[in-house]
Amino acid sequence: MKEGNVTEPTKLEYAQRLLELHGAVAGCETFEQLGLTLGQELSATIPGFSLFRFPVLEGQLGQKYLLAGEDQEYYSRDAEILSTLVVTWGSKVMTKKKASLFRLDEVEETQRLSKDVLRSLNALSIHPLIDSTSEVIEIICFFLPPTIEVTPELQEYLHKVAQILSPVVATIKLRRAYEESLERSEALMQVSQIISAKLELRELLTVLARQCSWLLRADRTTVWLYDEDNEEIWTIVGEGLRDQIRMPLGVGIAGNVAKTLQTLNIADPYSHPLFNPDVDKRTGYKTKSILCMPLLNKRGELIGVYQVLNKLDHTHFTRADEELLAALSGSASVAIENARLYEDQKKQFNSFIEVLATSVDAKDPTTYDHSKMVTGISVALAKEMGFPPQRVEFIRVAAVLHDYGKIAVPDAILCKPGKLDKEEFKTMKSHVSETIEILSKVYFSKEMRDVPRIGGMHHERLDGTGYPLGLKDEEIPLEGRIMAVADIFHAMMQERPYKRGLSTQEALAECKKLTAPHIGRFGDPEGVHLDAQVVSALEKILERVNYSPSYFLKESGWSEISSEELIRR
Ligand SMILES: [Fe+2]
Ligand SMILES: [Fe+2]
Repeated sequence: MKEGNVTEPTKLEYAQRLLELHGAVAGCETFEQLGLTLGQELSATIPGFSLFRFPVLEGQLGQKYLLAGEDQEYYSRDAEILSTLVVTWGSKVMTKKKASLFRLDEVEETQRLSKDVLRSLNALSIHPLIDSTSEVIEIICFFLPPTIEVTPELQEYLHKVAQILSPVVATIKLRRAYEESLERSEALMQVSQIISAKLELRELLTVLARQCSWLLRADRTTVWLYDEDNEEIWTIVGEGLRDQIRMPLGVGIAGNVAKTLQTLNIADPYSHPLFNPDVDKRTGYKTKSILCMPLLNKRGELIGVYQVLNKLDHTHFTRADEELLAALSGSASVAIENARLYEDQKKQFNSFIEVLATSVDAKDPTTYDHSKMVTGISVALAKEMGFPPQRVEFIRVAAVLHDYGKIAVPDAILCKPGKLDKEEFKTMKSHVSETIEILSKVYFSKEMRDVPRIGGMHHERLDGTGYPLGLKDEEIPLEGRIMAVADIFHAMMQERPYKRGLSTQEALAECKKLTAPHIGRFGDPEGVHLDAQVVSALEKILERVNYSPSYFLKESGWSEISSEELIRR
């Protein structure tokens, strides 16, 4: 030691300390444990030291980790020079598989460092950690302060420390690799489960991206889909499929991968000719590494592109990451193809039933938009009441078709400008049983099987005075009660030759009356017609959307079918 009266340890003392170190580090299972033990064991011999480790991956030095001691804070310029020096020297040590000592006052490059650094740092002792197959698995670097005199004995001691650490670090790494491979196969299994879960495309893209980032230890992932018709790739940026970004094939990194079907693994994007830094500039994000891989189906056709950004625990994506992503892509492409097929079929089904419903509404110009509005109101109510997505979708389909039976009602009655007489009213009422009957002949999938029954409940009343079945209270499921509220609420708002349309506020007030016993239109006492909970949900929605009925048109999820256009035909 340079200062104080502490004498140099004798050879015997060095040997004893190494023996103790050997025993102490043997049981360490994590780098954290190892670091704490090293801090305790080494500080008597090299007080004020810091020790860093650099994992070696595919022949390259990875990111620096503090193993023991304190991480000194240097000015950014000093820190940059030091880090470049350490990486350069560390790489030499790695290649030569031989430890080296670098004294800062003897090295020309260090002249650019400020005096601050030289006051706290005197020498770097860099050692390779070599495993049983003679491979360099890590580089460790001791930062030694000027208070430590670097004698040949000390150098020998540090050399022995590295030898003791080699098998311990190798074991910790093996344990980690084992845990990682378990984690990775679990994640791959989860992806397979996604396939069977039959997700919506939007949901699927989000899940696949999240899984991929987690699996590859990356910061973010984008899953692009190939649009064959427009020779573009596209992806979602927000919640809906409408918030999408599109890119022509051959443009940018993902566009290029889609065109060439070649994987790009880029360690330094800013020096890559295909990288466009404008996106980073706009978003403030810093892209440091990219792994971009085409997603192909079983027939080898392009489905999309996986774009993974910024490996978190290393400078770049490794070959192991590429292999893992390729395994993931296999399952992902099946899931995406299924979801697209499902979405396509759903679109076809929806446009079909929407056209059916619209053509019925179009028979009577005063009721146009009725089915669409009842759909929007029912969907909004179902969501407000916390229905899960599948149940919302069910009620949507039932609402679209609820008045389809009107197709069987003669136009003379359906479109009669004045009030209906008793007989006509009876015929008019028959539209519900017609709805049930016609829809019962349609094939519905298992989840939709109850559509005819529920669709036919929109004129039932809680007091049992409704039609066609006169169901009472609990006999009407919540779906039926929702449809009843949606139907009457919109009917009240519609202008008819014999009545004016109520405003949203007025119609809501009328609906509220119907949630309790009341005096009917003809002055007779009547019971409860509508479910109070459903009407209160309607009130909440209306307050939130400022009583604007157009909100329901959006909620209906209908494609752009204009009933007015159908009426003109
Ligand atoms: Fe109806
Ligand atoms: Fe209706």
